[in-house]
Amino acid sequence: MTYLSLRNEEYSQKMKSAISVLGVGVLPLLSLASNTPGFRDAEASPFTAFQFEDNGSWIANIANRPNNDLVITRTDVPEVWTINVDEGTAQVATNISDANNLIGISSIDDDEYVVIAGNLDTTTLTPEAGSFSAWKVSIDGDGVGTANLIAAIPDAQFLHGVVTFQKTRDTVNVLIADAGQGALYKLDTANGEYSIVIQDDGLAGVNNLRMQNGYLYFTATQNKVFGRVPLDLEEGTAVGPIETILNDQTIVPDGFALAPNGSVAFMATFVQNSIIAIDLDDENYPTSIIYGGINSTDIAGPTTVQFVHNGPWEILYIATNGGQTAPVGGSFIEPAKIAGMYLF
Ligand SMILES: *[C@@H]1O[C@H](CO)[C@@H](O)[C@H](O)[C@H]1NC(C)=O
Ligand SMILES: *[C@@H]1O[C@H](CO)[C@@H](O)[C@H](O)[C@H]1NC(C)=O
Ligand SMILES: *[C@@H]1O[C@H](CO)[C@@H](O)[C@H](O)[C@H]1NC(C)=O
Ligand SMILES: *[C@@H]1O[C@H](CO)[C@@H](O)[C@H](O)[C@H]1NC(C)=O
Repeated sequence: MTYLSLRNEEYSQKMKSAISVLGVGVLPLLSLASNTPGFRDAEASPFTAFQFEDNGSWIANIANRPNNDLVITRTDVPEVWTINVDEGTAQVATNISDANNLIGISSIDDDEYVVIAGNLDTTTLTPEAGSFSAWKVSIDGDGVGTANLIAAIPDAQFLHGVVTFQKTRDTVNVLIADAGQGALYKLDTANGEYSIVIQDDGLAGVNNLRMQNGYLYFTATQNKVFGRVPLDLEEGTAVGPIETILNDQTIVPDGFALAPNGSVAFMATFVQNSIIAIDLDDENYPTSIIYGGINSTDIAGPTTVQFVHNGPWEILYIATNGGQTAPVGGSFIEPAKIAGMYLF
């Protein structure tokens, strides 16, 4: 069955009724994960879109390119890569050799991104305070990138996720999580000026960030917290208390994405080898595993997820570190990869 034949109504209905999680119909057959790179056959969703060659590789974060490809940061080496998900190929765009590791990435303009760099011991996840900086990465039509320093942020302890906050005629402002200080920095990507806009115990360990409907959503992985805070959309300061959505010590919340309608959060659970869905419309915020599991080798060490719209389809891409932080069953690791799954 080809990608296009998904238009076949009968097939599509059958698939929709096959699995329904929190009202999220997830294309099915979880056991059929394909290892063919670039495989676009929805019958085999989830699929592996690309995998690196070596154990020890680690994909930290994903942004969307204007052409529907992905751009990713690596944490094992200070490299930004583009991933052609249709062909299952990838190439290095740029290497930010002033730092050892790359973490957050967010799109700020047409094929232009802000990338967070710094030094991190990837075995113990210990950051080198003072080593963090923000870079502007521009990628051309051939996938060749250039990296320019926006700002070194020497007072930061552990910069992690970054989210595009505000675009004006003159600049793009981003918010950056500092897990060490439990703080958010606002950075002007044009002139490099930055300041802390929120610092709060409720943000201790903050790492991944998303903005939606006036709220900043965040995970604090070490504390196993997923929360949100309403922001002043001019200043980036908090205009209400930090709300805890999830503080379930059995779930490890890492990178996440919000459904465009705001009803569901999809989240990588890092050392728990799964993707969960959280129903944001239900005040009890019920969770369910939609892919993988603690003993599953399907997506070992998932670090984050990212939506891509492709024609009528929504695809959720999943990044991994191959399970190197907590090998599945104590022994299984594999090279980092990008997996994808169709969502309806
Ligand atoms: C919101 O989007 C999700 C994911 O695409 C979908 O499954 C869900 O049904 C939608 N919820 C509402 C209330 O429209
Ligand atoms: C990145 O570039 C530096 C300087 O050119 C080089 O020494 C280093 O080997 C490169 N790193 C990787 C991982 O390619
Ligand atoms: C995972 O494997 C361990 C060890 O075999 C077992 O004790 C545990 O019940 C398994 N967990 C699940 C959710 O299958
Ligand atoms: C990665 O490590 C695992 C576990 O040690 C090993 O079985 C596998 O062959 C390795 N894969 C590669 C590509 O080196």
